[in-house]
Amino acid sequence: MDHRFDAATDELSAAEEAHLQRLTAAEAEGDERVVEAALRPRSLDEVIGQSRVRDQLGLVLEAARQRERAPDHVLLSGPPGLGKTTLAMIIASEMSTPLRLTSGPAITHAGDLAAILSGLNEGDVLFVDEIHRMSRPAEEMLYVAMEDFRVDVVIGKGPGATAIPLEIPPFTLVGATTRAGLLPGPLRDRFGFTAHLEFYEPHELDRIVRRSAGLLDVELTDTGSTEIASRSRGTPRIANRLLRRVRDFAQVRADGVVTLDVAHQALDLYEVDQSGLDRLDRAVLDVLCRRFGGGPVGVSTLAVAVGEERETVEEVAEPFLVRSGLLARTPRGRVATRAAWEHLGMAPPQGVTADQSLFEE
Ligand SMILES: Nc1ncnc2c1ncn2[C@@H]1O[C@H](COP(=O)(O)OP(=O)(O)OP(=O)(O)O)[C@@H](O)[C@H]1O
Ligand SMILES: [Mg+2]
Repeated sequence: MDHRFDAATDELSAAEEAHLQRLTAAEAEGDERVVEAALRPRSLDEVIGQSRVRDQLGLVLEAARQRERAPDHVLLSGPPGLGKTTLAMIIASEMSTPLRLTSGPAITHAGDLAAILSGLNEGDVLFVDEIHRMSRPAEEMLYVAMEDFRVDVVIGKGPGATAIPLEIPPFTLVGATTRAGLLPGPLRDRFGFTAHLEFYEPHELDRIVRRSAGLLDVELTDTGSTEIASRSRGTPRIANRLLRRVRDFAQVRADGVVTLDVAHQALDLYEVDQSGLDRLDRAVLDVLCRRFGGGPVGVSTLAVAVGEERETVEEVAEPFLVRSGLLARTPRGRVATRAAWEHLGMAPPQGVTADQSLFEE
């Protein structure tokens, strides 16, 4: 099954380009979606981690099955690579119904959406990926469809135009978004259940790596697996990608088995360090500490010093550094935390506290 769709092709900025070329990018790259399809859990029981979401969603689906009705509309929100598409597919398969797939950017006119909605059968699951990128008129059509299971088809143009209401069978909308904050309130309110996906714990990623290794027929030791998991930034997509790169290394430079040592060597070669930082992340920290004494320093200065564009530093490196508690964004500029100094194996200067970010912000 090919689950790709025709997303509008957007021009990529330099920062986006730089980001997508990284081994540690959370977004899927090129052919990756094809590889990923083989690794997706197929049922809720197979899903690793996200236990709260799994329990809640399991209940929603079970209740709907008992009532023999389509479940409430579901919104899946969270950063890339955590399992939104996976869960959407599971919802359809748990309900034993087909999944119709589209995305916000693919729906450029309300008419595109009208065509999709009017083609639905009772109980179908309609998955709208990147739902925050839908056009306003399409959004408004979707409100009505979600609430009243009706589409108003407009015939004609100008003052003579008339809207013909068309009933559509009860369906379940599953929306996915990495930017829940961008969804207009009325749209968010029409979802009966919202699942927020969280970053994964290392022990959960460890189970994911071992499961994927099994599916890919990769021989892997326990410590090899924990090593990959600990460098995966809390993100299953990255864990699976690192596993594939380490597998290459094991095959070409070792005897095919992913041991701790092999994982170590491979990830060092690919420049993903023990905390999941890559070359750019480390360059930013390095310059911040060594050249600017830990800051505060303006982001533009920092960018020049690492030889990157400001956007690349801001959008590509900083989010993970901030999330990892290594860098703080303050009104006076960027500041290295105590953990950053320690990460670089250097003694923090006097006065740098563990959580500088708390009172600098
Ligand atoms: N809970 C999980 N258990 C095992 N594997 C998972 C889990 N969640 C995600 N994965 C794996 O991670 C990969 C990425 O997941 P998925 O495509 O669902 O992410 P996404 O949230 O839809 O990302 P995006 O925002 O980029 O669309 C898939 O190959 C899937 O196999
Ligand atoms: Mg997805």
